[in-house]
Amino acid sequence: ERTPTGCPVSRRAADFDPFEDGYQQDPPEYVRWAREKEPIFWSPKLGYWVVTRYDDIKAIFRDNITFSPAIALEKITPTGDEANAVLASYGFALNRTLVNEDEPAHMPRRRALMDPFTPEELKHHEPMVRQLAREWVDRFIDDGRADLVDQMLWEVPLTVALHFLGVPEEDMDTLRKYSIAHTVNTWGRPKPEEQVAVAHAVGNFWQFAGKVLDKMRENPEGGGWMQYGLRKQRELPEVVTDSYLHSMMMAGIVAAHETTANATANAMKLLLQHPDVWRELCEDPSLIPNAVEECLRHNGSVAAWRRIVTADTQVGGVDLPKGSKLLIVTSSANHDQAHFADADFFDIRRDNASDHLTFGYGSHQCMGKNLARMEMQIFLEEFARRLPHMRLAEQKFSYVPNTSFRGPEHLWVEWDPARNPERARP
Ligand code: HEM
Repeated sequence: ERTPTGCPVSRRAADFDPFEDGYQQDPPEYVRWAREKEPIFWSPKLGYWVVTRYDDIKAIFRDNITFSPAIALEKITPTGDEANAVLASYGFALNRTLVNEDEPAHMPRRRALMDPFTPEELKHHEPMVRQLAREWVDRFIDDGRADLVDQMLWEVPLTVALHFLGVPEEDMDTLRKYSIAHTVNTWGRPKPEEQVAVAHAVGNFWQFAGKVLDKMRENPEGGGWMQYGLRKQRELPEVVTDSYLHSMMMAGIVAAHETTANATANAMKLLLQHPDVWRELCEDPSLIPNAVEECLRHNGSVAAWRRIVTADTQVGGVDLPKGSKLLIVTSSANHDQAHFADADFFDIRRDNASDHLTFGYGSHQCMGKNLARMEMQIFLEEFARRLPHMRLAEQKFSYVPNTSFRGPEHLWVEWDPARNPERARP
């Protein structure tokens, strides 16, 4: 087998399959061989070039003209005619948002929509996040056992995301139901018989997102990011387009929800796998902000991202012809010894932890990163204060097979409720 540039494909490159359990369980470990010996390789199974080193990935992020993000939301597994017909029947037209928008359209739109992400604006959401976290912990704190994903971490970031976007309360449940289908549709490998069901769910999600947006148009004075976008549209109609708003109404839920839910589940799993570190953090919660960064580096929730090459170029000495599709394995970059000393070591005091590429880098770097950080810090603070004695239960972790969004589907923890600190307080 040969690469599109005519070189032979190595055995390991030929075997690379990101839908396999090995990649799901531990992406940086799965591509360790590449990071060490063949940092950019062609994957015949995926039809992508796979990039694994920190410096190469940063260089790609830095140049969003040569390395366009246009394919970031493209279906990684092309669907069959039947599923495509189903999507078309719903008028599905998810298009450019921000994350997959090229210049010169991207930057003016990003700037126009940035204000709701400033630290002062984000502060307004803090009490809501804190209150939700407390209420959800209240429900299971006396049980001695909980699945943190099902019983809290999936729901709370979704509720925060819906509030942040400005979705009316009465529409939240319907949007909750649809949101997972988008992940499977975009980054997964649904079997042919599943594709049609996924297409119906995505089609419904698309139409419902449109209805919610129409409702917001009637009352664009609301406090959410989408209403902010609707007001900006009046000022800058060619920057904030209808297609953008409808696409973001759908993609924004996933961007803000699953990323953060998974990141917190990954963080708690990692911390509880290191009971000494968890104890230290419970004793000194001022360690939490850097611990969040280290968790995002070591075990982040976005494992890989995508770019497409717009002109013949080279990365790390490898020729990449125009049209090449790149899977940039940011989770591997985060374990690159060349950038992080003792890279596999989990060190919540690491001084360059925040150099991780889990939020991307450069002009498309995650706009929601400080909202995500705030949520994660609050969840960890609440767990550390109220359940410092929790431990990981015996379990096998499962993941939704896809290239990019990664977090355990369940996270079972146990503790002795008799030892809950709040029972000892008068
Ligand atoms: C972009 C990850 C949470 C909104 C991105 C990108 C990544 C990412 C990898 C693409 C970066 C690039 O191309 O350089 C994450 C992770 C999160 C998270 C790991 C949680 C831990 C959020 C939240 C929001 C959000 C809470 C809130 C709305 C966005 C937006 C973009 C983006 C709007 C597009 C920015 C642009 O292209 O200019 N995120 N994200 N994200 N994210 Fe996040």
